[in-house]
Amino acid sequence: METTHELDRLGQDARSRIAEATTIDALEAVRIAFLGKQGSISALLKSLGRMSAEERQAQAPAIQALRQQVSDEIARRREALESAALEQRLAAERLDLTLPAPQAPGGSVHPVAQVMDELAEIFADLGFSVATGPEIEDDWTNFTALNMPESHPARAMHDTFYFPDASPTGGRMLLRTHTSPVQVRTMLATAKDHPGGAPLRIIAPGRVYRSDSDATHTPMFHQVEGLVIDRDIHLGHLKWTLETFLKAFFEREDIVLRLRPSYFPFTEPSVEVDVGFALDNGRRVLGGSGDAPGHGWMELLGSGMVNRRVIAMSGLDPDVWQGFAFGVGVDRLAMLKYGMDDLRAFFDGDVRSLRHYRFSAFDQPTLSAGVGARA
Ligand code: PHE
Repeated sequence: METTHELDRLGQDARSRIAEATTIDALEAVRIAFLGKQGSISALLKSLGRMSAEERQAQAPAIQALRQQVSDEIARRREALESAALEQRLAAERLDLTLPAPQAPGGSVHPVAQVMDELAEIFADLGFSVATGPEIEDDWTNFTALNMPESHPARAMHDTFYFPDASPTGGRMLLRTHTSPVQVRTMLATAKDHPGGAPLRIIAPGRVYRSDSDATHTPMFHQVEGLVIDRDIHLGHLKWTLETFLKAFFEREDIVLRLRPSYFPFTEPSVEVDVGFALDNGRRVLGGSGDAPGHGWMELLGSGMVNRRVIAMSGLDPDVWQGFAFGVGVDRLAMLKYGMDDLRAFFDGDVRSLRHYRFSAFDQPTLSAGVGARA
């Protein structure tokens, strides 16, 4: 039989050990010592079973009360220890917001995007607006309307990627092989919105695709198309426009062009445009006539007067409207202007080559601001 004195002593012992426990683990050890299966208070409770009924009636309330007190005490202490631990963590893990932030890596403008912006800016000065068309094009707009009917041999030079889906206009859907379908789309839209037609001056920059891959060809590349339609446009306008554009783009007054007769199904007559260069330590530097000693001509772009069949298929009257078109590789222009020699470096995503040029979006705010994004 336990005396009240013994229960008091046990209670005091428990309270002082609870107060001494400074960690959750130590507190748990105290709990086990008193209230666990083998704990001293648990042993007292068990001893009730061996007592006579009267004895049990006399003892039980005090032992139950002790167990309740100790268990409440432990719960209070646990709460206190937990909130102290939290306080400590908050103090230790405090963020110092006055520390300098780590430098965020700054992006830069891709050379191709940079050149597209430059082109849009130069042509805007000449009164051209920017037109766009889909990269997934239908057979008719990419080929047939550009005077390349289904069996036309020129289609072979434009070997591209086809989709299984039939296009609404016959043939299959495909990745456009050039930006020339934007000519067709622009003329069709003009014919629809302005019956009788209207003068047009557009450039159409964007991605094009051909199944081709080596150091100078990638399956995806960029072109910019130019189109001028009016009542009395002739080859002289084409030559002046290209000269003005190339002088502005290469920032040289001594750019000399050579126009050679050529063939494209969608232009008649067609002209291939070469630009004169000089050799400087084996490097080609644009400028001057290619016929001068030590100079040469470099093929730069295709152009011509828009074939009247294309104008008719695009919904305009070829007896009223005529004009010129040209198409030039944007990647090619970027390589020439910024002295890059491997086309693949543009597209393999190595940031080191992009950092090397570091075109900044803020240095040169341009009119087109994100032509590529709108395509
Ligand atoms: N579309 C032609 C090509 O991709 C280029 C071109 C455009 C030629 C416009 C003449 C007129 O090769």
